[in-house]
Amino acid sequence: MSLVLDPAAQDLLFREARTANTFTDEPVTDEQVQAIYDLVKFGPTAFNQTPLRIVLVRTPEARERLVPHLAEGNQAKTAAAPLVAILAADNEFHHELPDLFPHFPQARDIFFSTRPARESAAGLNAALQAAYFIVGVRAAGLAAGPMTGFDHAGVQKEFLDDDHTPLMIVNIGKPGDDAWFPRSPRLSYDDVITTV
Ligand SMILES: Cc1cc2nc3c(=O)[nH]c(=O)nc-3n(C[C@H](O)[C@H](O)[C@H](O)COP(=O)(O)O)c2cc1C
Repeated sequence: MSLVLDPAAQDLLFREARTANTFTDEPVTDEQVQAIYDLVKFGPTAFNQTPLRIVLVRTPEARERLVPHLAEGNQAKTAAAPLVAILAADNEFHHELPDLFPHFPQARDIFFSTRPARESAAGLNAALQAAYFIVGVRAAGLAAGPMTGFDHAGVQKEFLDDDHTPLMIVNIGKPGDDAWFPRSPRLSYDDVITTV
């Protein structure tokens, strides 16, 4: 009774949403990805820095370049997924910051003049956006298979540049046969929440 979100939407986004390991052949269109991005871009980040950058791996040739960089257990499902996205943090996000945070444009120079400060902020905030993205994929009626099991330096060299750090790779599509493992338990409220 405490949640105002429609119960069917709660199920779609969380209770019944699962991490998919197999997918049907149904394509994921650019229109779907655009709708997902145009929803999740409103998720909050510090100073509205929005450092997440996404590379959609669409061509068979690009897929062939990506798969060898994945941990062995992640290769087959990534080779077969309808769409694969590389989620990365832009460590040079500060260039856009005065436009993205116009009521305090000095934030760029006060807080983000050094690369270590930017990398730290970009890592956290792009990870937040990656989480919003996974929930957005679910909101589109699709399943996501996020993975960090890959050679991060290799993927960076193959698809990104020195300013962009890969965070995770996400397989996206409609779940196929035997798409998931049995649901693992979650920690309870009492395990996690303390009040002072
Ligand atoms: C950041 C992140 C990294 C993950 N990396 C991998 C991975 O490399 N390989 C894999 O098979 N699953 C990976 N997973 C999947 C998790 O094991 C899975 O989401 C979790 O057990 C919950 O599963 P459920 O959504 O089906 O309940 C990853 C998930 C997340 C969010």
